[in-house]
Amino acid sequence: MSKLEDIVSLCKRRGFIFPGSDVYGGMAGTWDFGPLGVMLKRNMMNAWWSFWVDQRDDMYGVDAAIIMNPKTWEASGHVATFADPLVECKECHGRFRADKLVEGATESISTEEFLKADVKCPTCGKKNWDEIKKFNMMFQTHVGPVMDDSSIAYLRPETAQGIFTNYKNVVDTIYPNLPFGIAQQGKAFRNEISPRDFILRDRECSQMEIEYFVRPEEWEEQFEKLRKEQHDFLESVIGLPAEMIHELDVPAEDRAHYSKRTIDMMFDYPNGEEELMGLAYRTDFDLSNIQRESGKSMEYRDKVTGEAFIPHVIEPSIGVERLFLAILTAAYREEEDRVVLRLPESLAPYKFCVSPLLKNKPELVAKAQEVYAALKVKYTFVTWDDSGNIGKRYKKQDEIGTPKCVVIDFDTLEDGTVTVRDRDTTEQVRVKIEEL
Ligand code: GAP
Repeated sequence: MSKLEDIVSLCKRRGFIFPGSDVYGGMAGTWDFGPLGVMLKRNMMNAWWSFWVDQRDDMYGVDAAIIMNPKTWEASGHVATFADPLVECKECHGRFRADKLVEGATESISTEEFLKADVKCPTCGKKNWDEIKKFNMMFQTHVGPVMDDSSIAYLRPETAQGIFTNYKNVVDTIYPNLPFGIAQQGKAFRNEISPRDFILRDRECSQMEIEYFVRPEEWEEQFEKLRKEQHDFLESVIGLPAEMIHELDVPAEDRAHYSKRTIDMMFDYPNGEEELMGLAYRTDFDLSNIQRESGKSMEYRDKVTGEAFIPHVIEPSIGVERLFLAILTAAYREEEDRVVLRLPESLAPYKFCVSPLLKNKPELVAKAQEVYAALKVKYTFVTWDDSGNIGKRYKKQDEIGTPKCVVIDFDTLEDGTVTVRDRDTTEQVRVKIEEL
């Protein structure tokens, strides 16, 4: 099993992910994607969009504003309940998420349960704790030039509400038949008490969410369908090994306030099993609340029978960073004399690396540039490398997951063949340029 610090080190060394605001000493819970990270992330997000939206007839996309009318978060229950258990050490005033200090504890941990566990403060080692308090995780801001209670707004803690608030707009413009879904990808913000494990728990993250609207009586059937499709996406499209994914039927006391059933897909990350994504049955909780708070009807009218009702909702929700880390965890290998990222070809930042065997032979460089240009037209994601010796180039391309390295040598000038070296097997074969 790969170690988290090795993945973090590779990400920085090869330009996948840097600490946020690195030059100023960082900003806890934020991360910046570098050139290679952006490429892998875009491939992954495009794969999600293609699978869930483009290839289907029952899904529609939206891209809503991040700062929404604050009534959104009152109606959704986030102002009242989107909180984690915060505990403070009375000695050093360190603040921690109580459930993360006690093995097996959940977010609903009480002060009594916490004190019973007899934990030491991770900072000063004392055991003098204050009562557990609920800490709301939404980031607040003020909109406009007046900084008082009337101008308070929030950075969205989930992309889902931008979907719910547009549900009626989509119905009234697209006239979809039930069941149908609305999908969105975008940033979400959570003032996590303890961001941790690299990009697993961030204060600024991105989500890819679907709200799937169904007839109330159909929810179980649709839930099962989406559950199966989630596995298809994670295992067949993204290529995560099935044995690293485990379902957790979340007990009622640990479910979010809106959920009547949640199955979390857990993943074997380097530091242990953690939530990769959730599949939640949100009932009509959100649409009914919006109807009540806005005074606008959220009913769906059946085109044939004329029957009107508020649809129920199933929500598959996945974090971009968590999927990114799952992909790296599954792909990272330390082998005898190399580190290799065995990324699926469709996700790899570059599909080919082209290089001349020797940098100081103009005829080889010219031929290699010709091959590079032709491959670039065909595959777009092609890189050029003429630094160091060939062994060093292979090492670098292995670390960034490039599936094939193409090398132009003196035989190329004679017979028009090149060496193609495979990332996973390290085998080299001679191939005609036009067969690449
Ligand atoms: N709309 C439902 C919702 O937001 P959630 O379980 O709180 O539910 C959904 O979040 C997914 O978003 C999680 O399964 C995880 O992949 C990702 N996620 C949530 N909080 C995160 C954080 N602080 N850092 C990184 N990803 C996070």
